[in-house]
Amino acid sequence: MLTATNLSICYGPRKALDGFNIALAPGEIRALIGPNGSGKSTALQGMAGLVKPEAGAVTIDGAPMSVMTRREIAHRLSFLPQQPTAPDEMTVEQLVRQGRFAHVGLFRRYRREDEDAIAWALESTGLAPLAERPLSALSGGERQRAWISAALAQEAKVLLLDEPTTFLDIGYQIEVLDLVHRLSRERGVTVVMAIHDLNQAMSIADRITLMEKGRVVFDGTSDALAESGLIEQVFRVEGRFVQIAPDGPPHFDVHLKRWSGKRGFESAKHAPAS
Ligand SMILES: Nc1ncnc2c1ncn2[C@@H]1O[C@H](COP(=O)(O)OP(=O)(O)OP(=O)(O)O)[C@@H](O)[C@H]1O
Ligand SMILES: [Mg+2]
Repeated sequence: MLTATNLSICYGPRKALDGFNIALAPGEIRALIGPNGSGKSTALQGMAGLVKPEAGAVTIDGAPMSVMTRREIAHRLSFLPQQPTAPDEMTVEQLVRQGRFAHVGLFRRYRREDEDAIAWALESTGLAPLAERPLSALSGGERQRAWISAALAQEAKVLLLDEPTTFLDIGYQIEVLDLVHRLSRERGVTVVMAIHDLNQAMSIADRITLMEKGRVVFDGTSDALAESGLIEQVFRVEGRFVQIAPDGPPHFDVHLKRWSGKRGFESAKHAPAS
């Protein structure tokens, strides 16, 4: 479906992604986790064909992405960046309409199926009542949902989402994850999602890719990740994995140190990366 092989991406002399490999099955949900700066967004941009890699290749449906036009890529793949930008005066509906650009052609003829996709995308993100609002008059979470809606309207078989739940309240976080789950199971959409909430990642993902300093350090199931001891090591925290439901995913219970006035967090182990 989508593969990246030995993908390396540099910003100037710095290698932000170093030999990244991923192979996604159709309909799979993959969570991309790792500390800040570990290369998750860079990997997603590479998989979306937005940056020219130093080395390696991306294929989609078995074809190399490097020879495809933007429109050909957009038919197959939809990417929601971590910090997308649009003109403030643009309305929610205008943004979501833009999501159809790969389908409507040069003359912007919206057909019935385009209108249906737009209505469905607005509806599934709870934004139909806000369709006429300018983006500048939305809350952070509402704006994030508008972008998710635009990505959905594209109706691509591969969805790359960079921290889609960051600004959302817990209710909408669960709603977005539920939507992602339904897209995968009912429409066979393949999803790669950078996400910081480890327990949400382990609940929803079929497989997890853990990154550290531009490299993949783990690729496997939640259970295998819990077994590996890598979470404590990579994020430099203390905690333990607990089983909440007998057949549910493992749950990471991070050990929060007690705040003790002048001394700060007791024996805080977490220090900034060198
Ligand atoms: N445009 C850029 N120019 C230079 N360096 C960059 C650029 N974008 C990212 N980097 C660097 O590349 C590395 C990987 O960044 P990336 O944004 O992929 O990390 P991330 O895992 O998505 O982090 P976060 O969890 O904070 O979103 C970091 O060291 C970052 O400083
Ligand atoms: Mg990022």
